[in-house]
Amino acid sequence: MSGPKKLYIKTYGCQMNVYDSERMAEAMGGAGYVETDTPDDADMILLNTCHIREKAAEKVYSELGRFRSLKDEKPDLKIGVAGCVAQAEGAEIMRRQPMVDLVVGPQSYHRLPELEAKARDGAKALDTDFPVEDKFDTLRHRPRARRGPTAFLTVQEGCDKFCAFCVVPYTRGAEVSRPADRVLEEARDLVERGVREITLLGQNVNAYHGAGTDGGEWSLARLIWALNEIDGLERIRFTTSHPNDMTDDLIAAHGECDKLMPYLHLPVQSGSDRILKRMNRAHTAESYLRLIERIRAARPDILMSGDFIVGFPEETEADFQATLDLIEAVNYGYAFSFKYSTRPGTPAAERDQLPEEVKSERLQRLQALITRQQRAAQDAMVGREVGVLFEKPGRFAGQMVGKSDYLHAVHVSDANLSIGEMARVEIVESGANSLAGRIKAA
Ligand code: SAH
Ligand code: SF4
Ligand code: F3S
Repeated sequence: MSGPKKLYIKTYGCQMNVYDSERMAEAMGGAGYVETDTPDDADMILLNTCHIREKAAEKVYSELGRFRSLKDEKPDLKIGVAGCVAQAEGAEIMRRQPMVDLVVGPQSYHRLPELEAKARDGAKALDTDFPVEDKFDTLRHRPRARRGPTAFLTVQEGCDKFCAFCVVPYTRGAEVSRPADRVLEEARDLVERGVREITLLGQNVNAYHGAGTDGGEWSLARLIWALNEIDGLERIRFTTSHPNDMTDDLIAAHGECDKLMPYLHLPVQSGSDRILKRMNRAHTAESYLRLIERIRAARPDILMSGDFIVGFPEETEADFQATLDLIEAVNYGYAFSFKYSTRPGTPAAERDQLPEEVKSERLQRLQALITRQQRAAQDAMVGREVGVLFEKPGRFAGQMVGKSDYLHAVHVSDANLSIGEMARVEIVESGANSLAGRIKAA
C-alpha cells in the first residue's frame, strides 16, 4: 500500500556521532526505513545528541519542542533520542519531554530496530546498556551503496582518562579497540564503494590497541601501516589523540607513511601546569612542547591543531597567560576553543566556578591569537604545491572544491575535474575561508 517508512536523523557533536548516525540509518534500513532530509515527511525522527557542554545538551530540548506540532498532526510519528545525552540522562528525557518514544545510548544503538518495534506497539523504549555483544559485529551486514570520497571509521571508542571537566568516560564508557581485521574489512569495503580518504576515529584514537591479524596486539601506527597497503585508498587521517599516547612508532609514521596526512589534532586544553594538574591531564606544558618538537622533527611541514578550555575553575590571569604563551610557542594551523562548561557528575563541577564575563573575555583574547595563527598558516600556502582530493562542485560554474593534505579548503576552476579525483595543485591565492589553486598535474 504505502512506500518505505522515512527516517530523519539530526546529528550533533563530534565525528563519532556522524559515524554512528550512518550506522543507525543502516540498522533502520533493515527495518524498512529509508532516510529523508526533512523532518516534515518523516515517520521517525532521531536526534543523535552531544553532552560535552551545557549548550549542546540543552539544544536537544529546544529541538524536541519544535517537533511537537509535527507529532500533534501525525500521532504515528515516533521520536527518538540517541547519543551522549541519551546515555547521560536516560529516562529523565522522557520525563521532561513526554512525546519522546525512544531513548538509546551510543553503545546499544544496534538494537534500534527492536526499540522502534516496541515504540510502534505504543510502549516507551529505553536502552542505555553497555551490552556485551559487539555492536559493530551486529552492524556488519550493511548495504553497499556508492559513497562520497571521504569517510569516518571508528576504530576505538570510550575513554579511561577522566579529565576532571569531561563527560565522555561516562557517556561512552571504557576504552575499547576494534580488532584490526574488522577495521581492514570495513576500510576495503569503503574503498570499493568510492572512498579515497579515511579518518580513523576514537575518543582516544592513539591509545588504540586492537587484536592484530597476526595474533599480536597492534598499535595505531601498526594499523595505519596495514591500511597504507590498501590499493585505492589515498589518504589516512586520525582523530582525536591524547598527548600521552603519542608513541614513537606513531610519530615515526608521520615521517614515513606516504598516505598519512601532515595534519595532527593534539588537544592540550591549557598551558598552565597548575591547571593541567587540576584537570587531571597527566602531562605538562613543557612535555607537550617537547612532544611537538619530536613530531615536527619527523614531519617538518605538519600542521598542528588543538583544543583549549578557558575559565576552568581556579584559572588565574597568570594561568591564562601561560596558555597564550603555549599557543605562541606551538603556532597552530587550527584550534578549537571553548569556555569551560560545568558538567554534572564530573569532579570539576564541584569546584568554585569563574564568572561568565571572565570566561568570555579570555575566550575572545585566545580566539584573536588563534585566528591570527590560522590566517598566517593558510596564507603561507600561497606559492606551494599541495595534494587536493576533490569532494564537491563549488559555488561557480566549472569550479570544484576539495581539501588539501593540510585540510584547507581549496577551489579550482581551470580543469575538468570529477568528484573523488586527486590532483597536485599550485596555491595561487588565500581567501577568507579557502585557497584558490591551479592544477599542476592530475
Ligand atoms: N577525546 C578528545 C576530545 C574530547 S571532547 C580529547 O581528549 O581531547 C572535545 C573537546 O571539548 C575537548 O578537547 C575539550 O577542549 C572540550 N571540552 C570537553 N569538556 C568540556 C567542558 N566541560 N567544557 C568546555 N569544553 C569541554
Ligand atoms: Fe575527555 Fe578526552 Fe579527557 Fe577522555 S582524554 S576524559 S575524552 S578530554
Ligand atoms: Fe559529544 Fe559524545 Fe562526541 S559528548 S563530543 S557526541 S563523544
